[in-house]
Amino acid sequence: MRLVRRVKEMQSISRRLHEEKKRVGFVPTMGSLHDGHLSLIRLARKMCDTLVVSVFVNPTQFSPSEDFTRYPRDIERDKKLCESEGTDILFAPETDDMYPEDFSTYVVEERLSLPLCGRSRPTHFRGVTTVVTKLFNIIRPTFAVFGQKDAQQAFVIERMVRDLNFDIEIVVAPIVREKDGLAMSSRNRYLSPKEREEATAIFRSLSGVKQMVRKGERKTSPLIKLIRDEIARTETGRLDYAEIVDTRTLSPVEVIEDDVLVAVAAQFGRARLIDNIIIKKDEL
Ligand code: PAJ
Repeated sequence: MRLVRRVKEMQSISRRLHEEKKRVGFVPTMGSLHDGHLSLIRLARKMCDTLVVSVFVNPTQFSPSEDFTRYPRDIERDKKLCESEGTDILFAPETDDMYPEDFSTYVVEERLSLPLCGRSRPTHFRGVTTVVTKLFNIIRPTFAVFGQKDAQQAFVIERMVRDLNFDIEIVVAPIVREKDGLAMSSRNRYLSPKEREEATAIFRSLSGVKQMVRKGERKTSPLIKLIRDEIARTETGRLDYAEIVDTRTLSPVEVIEDDVLVAVAAQFGRARLIDNIIIKKDEL
């Protein structure tokens, strides 16, 4: 595995891979890798000739009040994990190489970025679409893998790729969970033992929603109430949002008739956690 630290070096490798007509798979991450990330890497590995993983804690997707400076970083561990999963190139650029001091160009998706996490994190997706565009330009992958864990992010990236004609296939991989259902996340390490235990309320509430829909509930208000109640029963959790939205528009629906995304964000101590399930029309 080759560790690449400079944008220019990565670009010259990408140029060669392109000339050699390699099928390049790409998994963008912010590092501190866990089994969720590794599942994306394993999936990509099976589908490509050359596998590129990036580790870059992207400052533009954090607001000044968020956890950019204390976001967990462990490049040595990430390096070992990437290597053992058969990564060919680990691209881990420095912040000032990605963002020169007078950086002033952003990519903004103006519709799907607004609801859900966009409401409490108004500049977040602008940072994500900008850095993903930069990474796509630097790496020029054939396809890139994103996790369903960040469902809105995956929808925003798919929309950006369509709207701006990136010649890149977007693959979305399922959510990897801990044994008790908590979705894996680099931010789970912020949780105290009590918060960690209570955070299972998020997936429990989503499973409850799924069960009620199976039993025939189609109205979303009692389903959202179920999520609210489940989080309210904890001592350490505070709900940011619980919404049931159309998967094409991310607009709230009152009655489930088509594919919907059931999305939850909740603060447990220092950790803002998100999770979701998709309920498909053919499950109704
Ligand atoms: P990060 O949070 O490190 O996540 C990198 C990728 O791993 C994302 O596509 C995310 O959806 C996926 N992922 C995280 N936890 C997962 C889980 N439990 N199961 C399945 N997939 C999971 O998302 C980002 O970084 C950044 O916004 C990035 C796209 C790299 C741009 O900076």
